[in-house]
Amino acid sequence: MVKLAYIYKQLNNRDFKVLLVLEKYLTKYEYVPVEIIEKEARLPPQHLALSLSKLSKLKLIQRRLGSLTGYRITYLGYDCLAIRSLVQRGVLAALGDRMGVGKESDVYVGLTPTEEKVIVKFLRIGRTSFRQTRRVRSWAEGKPEYGWLMQSRVAAEREYKALELLYKVKAKVPKPYGRSRHVVVTSYVEGVELYRYDNPRNPHHMLKTILDTLRKAYLDVGIVHGDLSEYNVLVVISDEGLEDPYIIDWPQYVYREDPQSEYLLKRDVEYIVKFFKRKYRLEVDLERALRYVRGEVDEPF
Ligand SMILES: Nc1ncnc2c1ncn2[C@@H]1O[C@H](COP(=O)(O)OP(=O)(O)OP(=O)(O)O)[C@@H](O)[C@H]1O
Ligand SMILES: [Mg+2]
Repeated sequence: MVKLAYIYKQLNNRDFKVLLVLEKYLTKYEYVPVEIIEKEARLPPQHLALSLSKLSKLKLIQRRLGSLTGYRITYLGYDCLAIRSLVQRGVLAALGDRMGVGKESDVYVGLTPTEEKVIVKFLRIGRTSFRQTRRVRSWAEGKPEYGWLMQSRVAAEREYKALELLYKVKAKVPKPYGRSRHVVVTSYVEGVELYRYDNPRNPHHMLKTILDTLRKAYLDVGIVHGDLSEYNVLVVISDEGLEDPYIIDWPQYVYREDPQSEYLLKRDVEYIVKFFKRKYRLEVDLERALRYVRGEVDEPF
């Protein structure tokens, strides 16, 4: 795999002009006709040709063969536009290695201009078929004209918005730093995924903290995560040895008013309660935990 940062560094202003035109017409044309690129990018024809050929080789754009020549931007091209915007706005200073490939994202580490370690999450809707995920994506239903890039962008907007609201009410989630297009930058949570956290000191405290986050999301923000699992919880160990679980991965949240919210809330709580039972032998009453999250009782167990 060629490194994203390496590709990004090869691009000049001319290349970005072309990418921006392709982005602008993303929803209008499947492949943007060359005449439109010419007109909008305002580049001398030789320069444009050079750029188009370079961008094609780097796989940032894709050419349609046939009578009508046109180009479209790829995920990689869209990535480079997002990185540029984040760099220009002072959100991101450096992009490091890819640390994970999720079902619907690529996750990189990065640095801010003040050298804070961050997570740079590139949403990749469409990589997995809908059927393989348990996510509900009601906001995308009935919008087949939305290509995968646009859907990824909407997913990133959603995730960023959720994190902003959750962070404001001091829920244990990554701190949002910035977003561009389909890319979300958040604080790096120095922790271990719950599924591989084997010998907890205090599973009660851990489960309560997770339920507290769900409760804040539900009561203070008015949303339900909708895809909670041991893969979307990172356990941070504080200097005092306390275990602090953070809930990540929010793009599929639904509002409390959504007809599916009760079903999803129950599924989230049940899933995590069962996980604690199976993995840590912690027995709690599911119904009570659910009532706690809904704010109907003051203690979860
Ligand atoms: N803020 C963060 N701090 C540290 N690691 C993170 C952070 N966000 C994501 N990760 C890592 O990247 C992985 C994937 O992130 P996330 O769950 O948000 O994306 P995803 O596309 O839903 O992945 P999957 O489909 O595998 O759940 C996480 O399981 C975690 O290991
Ligand atoms: Mg995940």
